[in-house]
Amino acid sequence: MTSKSLTPVAALVSVTVVGNNTTISNKASSAPKHHHHHGFVKRILRIALVFLGVILATLLSFISVFPHDRSYYDALSPFSAANSQASGNNVDPLDTVLRNASMKNKTIIVTTLNDAWAEPNSIFDLFLESFRIGNNTKRLLKHLVVICLDQKAYARCLALHPHCYQLYTQGANFTSEAAFMSSDYLHMMWRRIQILTSILEKGYSFVFTDTDIMWLRDPFQQFFPNADFQIACDYFRGDSYDVNSNLPNGGFTYVISNQRTIKFYNFWHFSRKAYPNNHDQDVLNKIKSDPFISSIGLKMMFLDTKYFGGFCQPSKDFNLVCTMHANCCVGLDNKVNDLKILLQDWRNYMALPPPSSSTSPNSNTTTPRTMPSWTVPQNCRGRHLL
Ligand SMILES: *[C@@H]1O[C@H](CO)[C@@H](O)[C@H](O)[C@H]1NC(C)=O
Ligand SMILES: *[C@@H]1O[C@H](CO)[C@@H](O)[C@H](O)[C@H]1NC(C)=O
Ligand SMILES: *[C@@H]1O[C@H](CO)[C@@H](O)[C@H](O)[C@H]1NC(C)=O
Ligand SMILES: *[C@@H]1O[C@H](CO)[C@@H](O)[C@H](O)[C@H]1NC(C)=O
Ligand SMILES: *[C@@H]1O[C@H](CO)[C@@H](O)[C@H](O)[C@H]1NC(C)=O
Repeated sequence: MTSKSLTPVAALVSVTVVGNNTTISNKASSAPKHHHHHGFVKRILRIALVFLGVILATLLSFISVFPHDRSYYDALSPFSAANSQASGNNVDPLDTVLRNASMKNKTIIVTTLNDAWAEPNSIFDLFLESFRIGNNTKRLLKHLVVICLDQKAYARCLALHPHCYQLYTQGANFTSEAAFMSSDYLHMMWRRIQILTSILEKGYSFVFTDTDIMWLRDPFQQFFPNADFQIACDYFRGDSYDVNSNLPNGGFTYVISNQRTIKFYNFWHFSRKAYPNNHDQDVLNKIKSDPFISSIGLKMMFLDTKYFGGFCQPSKDFNLVCTMHANCCVGLDNKVNDLKILLQDWRNYMALPPPSSSTSPNSNTTTPRTMPSWTVPQNCRGRHLL
């Protein structure tokens, strides 16, 4: 893998990232009390570190133009080979899938899938079902690209959906349900950041969605028009600009393809080295206020759970909700159980007669129709986890 050859550079980045953390905590504890020299030297040191970080990250974003070329997707499976035959031999099959699924403005919806979640009556079925019963979401399915992490998921995807791509990862087997935070799980999560980086580099903007997120309304209407990177939250604290208190969830992001987001995704991926044994979301939480991000001018915003809710913090308004995520929930069976109930709650809501206006004038229904509420989470409870 390409990451091996970059290890020395990545190690340097981890030094700068860790270095920043150290200086920040030092500053907090000692800055006001100690005399000027000390603080001055520290400031210089800190500026130097930040500066070094920026230089390195810029360097990285140049280097990273190369690792995502063909060799990266080599050893394609027989399934993907079929794709490449259809489109000529020198074309990356991912390009074909992206082009075919793209909106006019080079925007796609993308998810990743492994076999455990793709089995009949499991998460993937519920995910597709949500698009069909959501309000005006069915038309979005033609823009959904499913990145399959194993052959069984790919075969099942092809049976249900037009835009499937098999990502082959040498030496990895993502077939079974990866236990939360196991090494397979971590590998899978980081693989996802890599593929999203290469999609950005190919010029496509995307909405990334986990498959345990139910799409009930078109989210595009609720996105901020001027942000580079927007992300849903497990817990939203009321201010979409607030980097410090919102707890983002990497399962749902809207990212515009540009130089800032490409640099940011490379930085995110390489920061993994600074925080081994963390998944992408934990690392994001650690780097989200890193000076590097403001230095490249990336505009990051946090999406309100009123529109983009989940089991951690459900959207309270059925008239506004766009998506609901089975977050704060461990275990595939628990997710499936509660998502089925959630979709039934939604069907019940959609089956309600429209608000009083169209009911017969004779009946004295002056009371507004009461807001329905979710009957979930049930098996999914409480813990702040994915
Ligand atoms: C569904 O969407 C249509 C138009 O997009 C809107 O008029 C209607 O009120 C929506 N229905 C619900 C239940 O949100
Ligand atoms: C392109 O997309 C359509 C559906 O939108 C699908 O039927 C077709 O198989 C796709 N073609 C390729 C080459 O992926
Ligand atoms: C991957 O793992 C599954 C079960 O965990 C197993 O059935 C399958 O044979 C494995 N595939 C490979 C290529 O090792
Ligand atoms: C791309 O097109 C979709 C659908 O028309 C729209 O909702 C979205 O805002 C557009 N994205 C950009 C970046 O213009
Ligand atoms: C409204 O309905 C109630 C019973 O549901 C009835 O007692 C009352 O007379 C009705 N009022 C009008 C103005 O029709």
